[in-house]
Amino acid sequence: MKITVESLKSTYEKSQLMVLAAFSKESNGKTQPVLSTWPKEIKDCFLSTVDSKFFEGKAGQTSFFEFLGEGVLAIGFGEKTKLKKENLRQECSKLYTKLKAKDVYHTVAFDLDTFNSLRSLPDTAAIMSEAFYLTDYTYTKFKKLDHEPKLKHVIIFGRDNKATSAKVKASVESSKMTTSAMNICRNLINDPPNILNSESYAKFVEKDVKTNLKGHGIKIKILNKADIKKEKMGLLLSVNAASAYEPRIVHLSYTPKKTTKNTKHIALVGKGVTFDTGGVSLKPSGAMVGMKTDMGGSATVYAAFRAAVQHESPYKISCFLGITDNALSANATVPDSVIKSRSGKTVEIGNTDAEGRLVLADTIDYACSFNPDELIDAATLTGACLIAVGGKVCAAMGNDDKLLNNFLKSTKEKSELVVGLPLFDIYIKDMKSEIADLKNIGGSRNAGCQKAGAFLGEFVKEGVSWMHLDIAGVADSQGYLPYCPNNGASGLIVRSLGHYLTNGKI
Ligand code: BES
Ligand code: MG
Ligand code: ZN
Repeated sequence: MKITVESLKSTYEKSQLMVLAAFSKESNGKTQPVLSTWPKEIKDCFLSTVDSKFFEGKAGQTSFFEFLGEGVLAIGFGEKTKLKKENLRQECSKLYTKLKAKDVYHTVAFDLDTFNSLRSLPDTAAIMSEAFYLTDYTYTKFKKLDHEPKLKHVIIFGRDNKATSAKVKASVESSKMTTSAMNICRNLINDPPNILNSESYAKFVEKDVKTNLKGHGIKIKILNKADIKKEKMGLLLSVNAASAYEPRIVHLSYTPKKTTKNTKHIALVGKGVTFDTGGVSLKPSGAMVGMKTDMGGSATVYAAFRAAVQHESPYKISCFLGITDNALSANATVPDSVIKSRSGKTVEIGNTDAEGRLVLADTIDYACSFNPDELIDAATLTGACLIAVGGKVCAAMGNDDKLLNNFLKSTKEKSELVVGLPLFDIYIKDMKSEIADLKNIGGSRNAGCQKAGAFLGEFVKEGVSWMHLDIAGVADSQGYLPYCPNNGASGLIVRSLGHYLTNGKI
């Protein structure tokens, strides 16, 4: 599906249905539609229909009529003042789902002026196109649809130059870049583990960078097993020990066109466990299903990197994906092993299912050797995260409140649910081993999310501002949001991170 911004004239020529939004207001105990942004002729035509007598402009109400031979749909959005960004996004998403399910129209046109609840045409157009692109997503690689859905073209149109301005076009283009990154993140997470393994994953990223980020001067380096051995990444190798595939570190770097000696450098690090069996500390079968999503952190940081590059971020950004599966064979690392990390710190393995922190520890240490000012990692790291903050919220923690607070501003801007958790000293105390520097599980399950975070903090170089995002809850199954699929990957957090990497005050 494509979205274009067009004038009224070309809209008339191309579209099969025009959609106008209406709001509602309460007066004298009655709910009435607000059609103040509608052109007089269309409003008069609508108000002369029988159906309009029952239309109050409440959220979800629709009314269909005909104007000069053209089909018009009135859609109610409820009270205008209550319609904040996220409500508009969700209402537009539900509307898109209805229109697509109808399977009648090829081209549908939306009257931007009537949708403008945000008092900004570019912002409104951005939210609308974001909702449409995200809602249109389906994962169809292994299942042929009964038939191709008819809806292929969405027009956002304006009646004057303001609504078709360069700013409106640029914001639709910006939404396209962000949502295509999110949809790539979704595809990678949805890809089954017999298709997406460490080797094919690294190849995919390389190809995507070479074809879709061409011209942005991205450098790409992929470390294979021999390179990873040379780097002495003992922890990553220990997770990979039972795998049929080599581990990979994918290292991408972006430098903006204009740099000064003050240009900040942000490093992203992602957990890329293509499947997590738990290893010798095997997961029970019920808990193992769905563990193809365990590379979600790496897909999230890659997608945010991709969006930030396409938005020509002013910052230097490096992206490190630590990729392996956590498999089981005679070569598997067993509990009680002590492994030496790239940093030199030794780790006693209490549970081979606490593998994400091992992969990240070496990848974070490697990333720090490139001297970033800030480092942000993302991972489906702990089940304890869901217990701590719930399955619809991402937990953030780190060593720098300023970084955390700035990131939280981006999450508010993008309406994503992220909460900061403190990393008290008591957490890392519980991760000390009697026979090694650290152990990979705490003495109890309590505060497991923060203890995993504290473990990662031990591998962040002194002086680097660091934030860890545990996306174990939000990476998939967010169907309560109308623009996310019921089952499968959500693509959440890519928007906030992409925004931070482009506009954050660093
Ligand atoms: N990949 C899991 C975490 C996870 C759980 C992600 C549920 C998404 C949904 C991680 O590798 C893991 O297994 N963590 C263990 C840690 C424990 C052994 C200390 C967990 O959370 O149970
Ligand atoms: Mg695990
Ligand atoms: Zn895992």
